Amino acid sequence: MEKEFLTIKNNALSMILDAENNKELDAIRLQFLGRSGKLTIALKDLTKLPDDEKPLMGRVANNTKNVIEDAINRKENELNKKRQTNFIIDITEPGIKPPLGSLHLVTQAIQEITKIFEHIGFTRVRYPEIEWDWYAFEALNFPENHPARDDWETFFIQQDPHPKYGSLVLTPHTSSGQIRQMENSKPPIKMLNIAKTYRRQSDVSHTPMFHQFETLVIGEKISIADLKGTLDFFVKSYFGENRKSRIRPYHFQFTEPSFETDVSCGVCDGRGCKLCKEGWLEIGGAGMVHPNVLKNCGIDPEKYSGFASGWGVERVLMMKEGIQINDLRTLYANNLDFLTQF
Ligand code: PHE
Repeated sequence: MEKEFLTIKNNALSMILDAENNKELDAIRLQFLGRSGKLTIALKDLTKLPDDEKPLMGRVANNTKNVIEDAINRKENELNKKRQTNFIIDITEPGIKPPLGSLHLVTQAIQEITKIFEHIGFTRVRYPEIEWDWYAFEALNFPENHPARDDWETFFIQQDPHPKYGSLVLTPHTSSGQIRQMENSKPPIKMLNIAKTYRRQSDVSHTPMFHQFETLVIGEKISIADLKGTLDFFVKSYFGENRKSRIRPYHFQFTEPSFETDVSCGVCDGRGCKLCKEGWLEIGGAGMVHPNVLKNCGIDPEKYSGFASGWGVERVLMMKEGIQINDLRTLYANNLDFLTQF
């Protein structure tokens, strides 16, 4: 009798394995477990056994039944799943586009600017946003309490001043990086410092946090011609070959002589229009590093000279793209309707 159950089990399992659809599976179920199914009949025969054989055969019979039922259930699940996946993978159905992120337009500009300067041998660095007065002002030739400091509309951090470095501030310009760079390395230096800067100003054309990119070049016989050449290379690479650049006299504590740097207007091609008034747009400050600044960093001004420039990332970005943003603060408002355009 044990053999009979084994045969039933093996037959059932191999048929279940071969079943290709639910209909075939139903037929198998009927054939073995139905009212006059093979297993049902064999179970009935158990009653005819002598009493001492009944417990053992009962267990064999039960096990056979369980194994067949399990196998049928498992196969049923498998067939159903297959049906569902066949249904889902309908290659004619229009796809669902996954939402794709993109870099913030200021990040994109920073990457582009970095590439341009790296091309002519500058090394990208970044220095602290929270900075000592020494780096942001004092070493840059701003004497204590000098009125020129007011132009930088600085955020001060409430903390006892350091005996040598003074108060802590949110750096109001990337020029603090000039001092850090000269402290860290000896000439020749070709630094590109791009970082966040902070000033107490918030209106349609100012955000309290913005970005600057600062160049510093120190070496023997570095002249204004090198500064003008670098400015011109940047202007042509970033804005386009047809754009011109110029420098105008200005004043900064840490450069002598100092300049404002301009790019010709892309709208009127330098002729003068509503946007630029006189044909030029300002991109930021520049100048030849002041001898006092070199001395403060232990560099001999008799042997070395250099130039520096500090320009606004948001400023050049807006000028390049011709983006008309009525309120500059939109850049940092995390509004996806605005940001996903770029
Ligand atoms: N740090 C100046 C500013 O924030 C710009 C500048 C940089 C000027 C380097 C001269 C040299 O306006």
